[in-house]
Amino acid sequence: MTIKTVGVVGCGLMGGGITQMVAQSGYTTIVREASPELLDKGLARIEGILTGNVVKQKMTEEGKSEILGRITATTDFEVFGACDLVIEAATENVDVKKEVFRTLDGIAPPHAVLASNTSSISITELGAVTGRPSQVLGLHFFNPVPVMKLIEMVIGLETSAETVAVCRTFGEALGKQVIEAKDTPGFIVNYLLIPYLLDAVRLVETGVATKEDIDAGMVLGCSHPLGPLKLLDFIGLDTTLYIADVLYDAFRTDRYAAPPLLRKMVAAEKNGRKSGEGFYIY
Ligand code: CAA
Repeated sequence: MTIKTVGVVGCGLMGGGITQMVAQSGYTTIVREASPELLDKGLARIEGILTGNVVKQKMTEEGKSEILGRITATTDFEVFGACDLVIEAATENVDVKKEVFRTLDGIAPPHAVLASNTSSISITELGAVTGRPSQVLGLHFFNPVPVMKLIEMVIGLETSAETVAVCRTFGEALGKQVIEAKDTPGFIVNYLLIPYLLDAVRLVETGVATKEDIDAGMVLGCSHPLGPLKLLDFIGLDTTLYIADVLYDAFRTDRYAAPPLLRKMVAAEKNGRKSGEGFYIY
């Protein structure tokens, strides 16, 4: 199976980034949002990034127009009837995602692959609500999608070898390195990253060190591009807490138990860069 037309569910930060990369890589792209306002906001963000690339002379004005011309934007689901692959990047909520997968299964052609950009939810569970679990897998992109070079491909219990092979070729065509993980909570990256971020919060909570010193420790001592607290602000404290709770629920080990400070900061809406304040002020 060759992928020619790709659908994206959601045009937020992740869905918009995926839409841009897919269109930029030459695919006919269909993106769906719940309302015209959200769709306009997502498309404006994509256009802004492409305009930035034109200004930096990384792309011509003509190239930008071609990319935008490949994108069909809609609030309907029916248009996914033309897709070979649909990537779901809706809200990180298991019930929302299951509903999207049920809907897509009824609309997408029988040969189409259905992928989720979930960072923590079970792919096998999402596949189970469809009549095509062998054609369901995870394609976990990283934010900002145009910058981050990784796709974590998540293989559900029923995902077929053919689906994996088709999606590896697709991921590589987007210029990403594709890594494979079996369907386990957190996959590879968040399985490792979340306990590390939670431990950094615990160091702040117990007063062992300042946030600046914790970040400097990891940047200068371990050559990380960003310290854990800056990274937490970038990912979003609410998103990190959500993933930690999913992982804690799955594994029931202290490793994934969110420290009270993180929970309090989320309650106070100090969610990081997106809310103007997290561990740092923006
Ligand atoms: N979309 C597209 N391009 C973007 C962008 C965006 N949203 N944000 C920044 N860029 C580009 C800039 O245009 C710039 O490109 P050029 O080099 O061509 O000029 C480049 O990225 C660097 O940007 P800046 O110099 O403006 O800013 P910076 O030095 O602060 O770097 C960053 C920006 C690379 C995004 C940096 O903040 C960073 O590395 N952040 C952490 C990213 C990260 O770790 N993401 C993964 C989080 S883990 C995760 O996502 C897992 C999960 O499931 C929770």
